[in-house]
Amino acid sequence: MNEGVHTSGEALPLSISDPKLSLAFTAGQIQARVAELGAAIGRDFAGQQLLLCGVLKGAAIFLADLIRAIPLDCTYDFVAAESYGRATESSGSVRLTRTLQEGSIAGQNVLLVEDILDSGATLAHVRDRLLQQRPARLAIAALLDKPSRRRVPVSADYIGFTIPDRFAVGYGMDFAERYRQLPAIHFLPETI
Ligand code: IMP
Ligand code: MG
Repeated sequence: MNEGVHTSGEALPLSISDPKLSLAFTAGQIQARVAELGAAIGRDFAGQQLLLCGVLKGAAIFLADLIRAIPLDCTYDFVAAESYGRATESSGSVRLTRTLQEGSIAGQNVLLVEDILDSGATLAHVRDRLLQQRPARLAIAALLDKPSRRRVPVSADYIGFTIPDRFAVGYGMDFAERYRQLPAIHFLPETI
């Protein structure tokens, strides 16, 4: 078994337990941080209802853990965003391929949940689309933040971890659709 990569006790197929990945945050570190974020969100929205809106596909696993760490009356939905560009870089041109039903968030507290805040193009686009639907309040949670890459001004209210300019995979995040299932977060080799 490849220690620190998988926690189930079962070895993953060789192609997934890739020794070239470097461990960034263990599953335990992620769970501890998600618990802290959930508690903070619970305090900030105390006594209120909250709709978590995840950005597919990367945020699905983060959202699933985060919602269970928030001690409030919550529900969730997803939007899907697509951006065009190289495999490890978003081009800045973003479109939504799944949206929320018109009018479904008007007057509600919404927490936009994203896996990683990189150039900011995706979150800024999704945020602006959701704001058009007039939520009572819109906050943003991003598991990872790469502030050195920001091109579009957007900041998250809740950040799991701030990371350098490295490409992260695991815990929902992919490289060409691989590695999403890894319970920890890893960096790809810098040469990619
Ligand atoms: P942005 O629009 O440049 O902020 O990029 C946001 C999206 O690009 C994220 O939602 C991810 O899907 C993807 N992305 C950016 N950086 C990474 C990374 O390090 N690992 C995996 N996906 C990433
Ligand atoms: Mg994403």
